[in-house]
Amino acid sequence: MKYLNSIIFLSSLAISAIRGEVKYFSKCVKNGDFAITFDDGPSLDYSNAILDILDEYKVKATFFVNGKNCVDITTNDLAKAILKREYESGHVIGSHTFTHPFGITTLSKDELTYELNALNDALYDIIGVKPAFFRPPLGEYSEENLKVIEQCGIKANILWNLDSEDWDHNYNATQQYIDNLEGKDPYAHSFIALNHDIQKVTAETNLKIVIPYLKKLGYNLVPMDVCIGLPAYQSDYDENSNPKKIPSSNNNNNNNNNNSNGGNNGISKDGSGETVSGDPQNLNNNDNNNSNNNGTNNSNTNNNNNGNGNALPETSDANIVRNSVVLSVTIMLLMSILLL
Ligand SMILES: *[C@@H]1O[C@H](CO)[C@@H](O)[C@H](O)[C@H]1NC(C)=O
Ligand SMILES: *[C@@H]1O[C@H](CO)[C@@H](O)[C@H](O)[C@H]1NC(C)=O
Ligand SMILES: *[C@@H]1O[C@H](CO)[C@@H](O)[C@H](O)[C@H]1NC(C)=O
Ligand SMILES: *[C@@H]1O[C@H](CO)[C@@H](O)[C@H](O)[C@H]1NC(C)=O
Ligand SMILES: *[C@@H]1O[C@H](CO)[C@@H](O)[C@H](O)[C@H]1NC(C)=O
Repeated sequence: MKYLNSIIFLSSLAISAIRGEVKYFSKCVKNGDFAITFDDGPSLDYSNAILDILDEYKVKATFFVNGKNCVDITTNDLAKAILKREYESGHVIGSHTFTHPFGITTLSKDELTYELNALNDALYDIIGVKPAFFRPPLGEYSEENLKVIEQCGIKANILWNLDSEDWDHNYNATQQYIDNLEGKDPYAHSFIALNHDIQKVTAETNLKIVIPYLKKLGYNLVPMDVCIGLPAYQSDYDENSNPKKIPSSNNNNNNNNNNSNGGNNGISKDGSGETVSGDPQNLNNNDNNNSNNNGTNNSNTNNNNNGNGNALPETSDANIVRNSVVLSVTIMLLMSILLL
């Protein structure tokens, strides 16, 4: 029966999507929040310089680290010291796989499990926690990957909506920030920015320019747990993957949000009991009620159009997952009817 394979395939797709607890984010849940992230470290050449700059500007950021990329964190004491410094300074440590394979979609289940668990174990030895956030190398992953990632304790898959291109000498990382932020404002937008703490331009020029620039524009520079409203480490979730505590946003360098329930960060429960990220526009309307909105331009500026035809989703990312589940189930039903 020629439809049978399709049905089996679509069913497994739908079931995996329903099972999938790993949430997807490419921006912060609250308008005005801006998460600076670094991939591929630690780097013995540049990570400490970056940490110095973050200290100087009192910014908490996020490091998606590898176990054995530039340096082997299981054996190198300087690398261990960098990871400890990152963690103890209040930056968030996320997982970027152990060896940084060139994409994970071609890995077997066992290979990907190793990539996740070897890093989990190495980090546990060094900083005493295992990361709950994951960034796939190259930003590529499959539904199949998500099941494995979830089994390794990951709760959130973090992409980005601003790419500094700091690794590519054809681009000017500073100009990438300027171009991406043009026409955007903290009242209607939030960002997760991709950088690499193994890149000289990031450590030596770009951060020193863009951090003050972002602050001047009125963005709150937040670590990833605040950005997405979920705890950063596996021990802060119960056995049903529910967070034991919600990270609270300290939006005190910006008047954008000044309310008593700021700690909630827009994470809400829907009917299915699944935690979903809230609609940023609604968050904005609910959370912001101060004179600084000045009545001018706080309406639906959420229509995503970053001008390069490569738009990342600006609507609730959890909704996209849910919609794809609904679509898969619908297709399955249609196929079954066809078969009968
Ligand atoms: C990168 O862009 C910034 C902002 O336009 C500019 O100030 C800087 O000189 C540029 N850097 C290089 C190396 O071109
Ligand atoms: C924020 O709210 C607190 C408590 O309601 C209030 O004391 C404070 O003045 C508010 N700050 C701003 C900037 O509105
Ligand atoms: C928002 O501000 C307006 C004017 O200051 C006030 O009348 C209204 O009650 C506020 N709404 C909320 C939800 O705080
Ligand atoms: C009003 O808000 C806009 C951003 O929405 C900002 O550019 C402008 O400076 C604000 N004006 C005042 C007087 O605060
Ligand atoms: C809102 O902002 C857009 C661009 O950011 C501008 O073109 C428009 O005139 C503004 N509307 C008002 C009412 O200020």
